[in-house]
Amino acid sequence: MLLEENVALAPLTTFKVGGAARYFVDAANEPELQAAVAYAKHHKMPLFVLGSGSNIVVADEGWPGLVLKISIKGVEETARGFFRVGAGEDWDSLVAHTVKENYAGIECLSGIPGSVGGTPVQNVGAYGQEIAETLVYVRVLEIATGRVLELNKSECGFSYRKSIFNTTQRGRYIVLWVACQLEHDGEPRIEYADLKKYFARNPHPTLQQVRDAVRSIRQSKAMLIVEGDEDCRSAGSFFKNPLVTPAEADRVQDLARNKVPDRILPRYPGEHGLVKLPAAWLVEQAGFRKGYGRGPVGISTKHSLAIVNRGGATAKDIVALKDEIQKRVRDVWGIQLEPEPAFVGFPPM
Ligand code: EPU
Repeated sequence: MLLEENVALAPLTTFKVGGAARYFVDAANEPELQAAVAYAKHHKMPLFVLGSGSNIVVADEGWPGLVLKISIKGVEETARGFFRVGAGEDWDSLVAHTVKENYAGIECLSGIPGSVGGTPVQNVGAYGQEIAETLVYVRVLEIATGRVLELNKSECGFSYRKSIFNTTQRGRYIVLWVACQLEHDGEPRIEYADLKKYFARNPHPTLQQVRDAVRSIRQSKAMLIVEGDEDCRSAGSFFKNPLVTPAEADRVQDLARNKVPDRILPRYPGEHGLVKLPAAWLVEQAGFRKGYGRGPVGISTKHSLAIVNRGGATAKDIVALKDEIQKRVRDVWGIQLEPEPAFVGFPPM
């Protein structure tokens, strides 16, 4: 195990902000990871587990303890369509590989920045699919005991952008491997409106065509990391789409009809009979247009739900814009938006 000191975290995140890790270990296998966890425990250091840094905001003060980067690699097809993948593998490379081999199940999750280990944590989803649908089990390390165990799908407690890993059992486990079952020669999923529109003249696209379409739609919304595109210095969607009761959705819809009669507020069915409202719409119609600027931070020119670092931003700048957006959306729509990325090294908010 190589223990480094004062390692800058900003370059390891897509936002490119934040301070340094006091201690840092890049763990390539389970024994290294277990050693690092034991070290942090022995020295009573706070531990932060870093994947690919695509969904975090690191505080300007950095992290006072140990940052453990998970670099476990390996893509093993142990039975037809059954893939066991190391948490440190790049997610989109896995999608590219499985689509090329003609496996269906994660094609709509193309172009999502991040590592494989991060996908079950927030139950990554896009364009009508989520990882919970194909995931079979997650192999994890329990930090308190050092035990390695396998949790099946139902034990992971998945729902929209949620799992036990980011809710009830937050901080208890580290994801080591993810196993999923894909379907050979399966049909691609064309359910999301953007995809239906894209394939209006081609009702039976191949998996590869769907992957290409998803990547191109994501790119048009700056949700694909493209080197040199400053709209990509972000953490993707900054807020979750709020899930509200049908009565609450009616209230917001009536308000919207009065305030912006020419722009209809879309609503989507959510889980447990709730209604999902598009946070992007609420943000934009509260006055934060695409391209909105606040010094070194702003809103993406291509999607109103992404906060971007326009260059030289600090975490403080990002939090100030987050607070401003939340306040205005609350004042205008009476809705409390919840951030999607994790905040690392901040005092409890
Ligand atoms: N909209 C606007 N302005 C915009 C963009 C969108 O008003 O600039 C409105 C439109 O009415 C649009 C609606 O918001 O119909 C929904 O927009 P979009 O289809 O882009 O999806 P989203 O709800 O903003 C979610 C995920 C994305 C995922 C896409 C596609 C969340 C928080 N975000 O975005 O995930 O890629 O759907 O499935 O659920 C991420 O989590 O980081 C992420 C990028």
